[in-house]
Amino acid sequence: TRTAAVIPAAGRGVRLGPGAPKALRPLSGTPMLVHAVRAMARSRSVTLVVVVAPPDGADEVRRLLDAYPLTGNTDVVVVPGGETRQESVRRGLAAVPEDVAIVLVHDAARPLVPVDTVDAVVAAVREGAPAVVPALPLADTVKQVEPRTGDRAGEPEPVVGTPERARLRAVQTPQGFDRATLVAAHEKIVLEGDGATDDAGMVERLGAEVVVVPGHEEAFKVTRPLDLVLAEAVLARRRA
Ligand code: C5P
Repeated sequence: TRTAAVIPAAGRGVRLGPGAPKALRPLSGTPMLVHAVRAMARSRSVTLVVVVAPPDGADEVRRLLDAYPLTGNTDVVVVPGGETRQESVRRGLAAVPEDVAIVLVHDAARPLVPVDTVDAVVAAVREGAPAVVPALPLADTVKQVEPRTGDRAGEPEPVVGTPERARLRAVQTPQGFDRATLVAAHEKIVLEGDGATDDAGMVERLGAEVVVVPGHEEAFKVTRPLDLVLAEAVLARRRA
């Protein structure tokens, strides 16, 4: 069974502060996206990586990736993304050939995911799960609130509930899918606003089963400036 990885990398990364698109920012001298592509290619099952570039940045991303050739025999293609993450993934999926049975979707913003986590996700899909997400228990208690917006933005927000922490998981990527299931989800599920923040959520709405396997602390998402400090420290520890 062939496995492909789609990497949505079209986000601007505003929460990280001003600068280049998030995926192109360097981590110990190498663009975050290059780390993410290597993390997928490191898995022996992944033979194709589809990178979804910013809508007007496909050529730039292609040139960038050409400057960091992979050592194995994984193909890398680049396609332009869309306004939302969901739209970017849909465009990436359209570039996956029909004979690919398993599709991983991996955020460029999770450049340091270990290969064992990637392989565990692929193995669970091979064993028959239509959708698999790596996830970790939460350290923080989570509250659901009534968000204050518009005129009331900035006011204290009322708490409406506290889900039992032991039953919550923070989900990571790569999320792995039986290709037909993910394609069906992207064809049938149309979400308003910013779309889906996670592909497994779309498969849930389709009514298909989604299962969780253990994630890894190094698969954290680089979102805020402090995450860059942590990512550099992880890379330094690997080199030591
Ligand atoms: O914004 P967030 O951190 O959820 O983004 C997760 C991933 O989705 C990032 O890798 C980002 O580049 C990607 N993305 C995208 N197209 C968008 C928005 C986000 O490919 N329009």
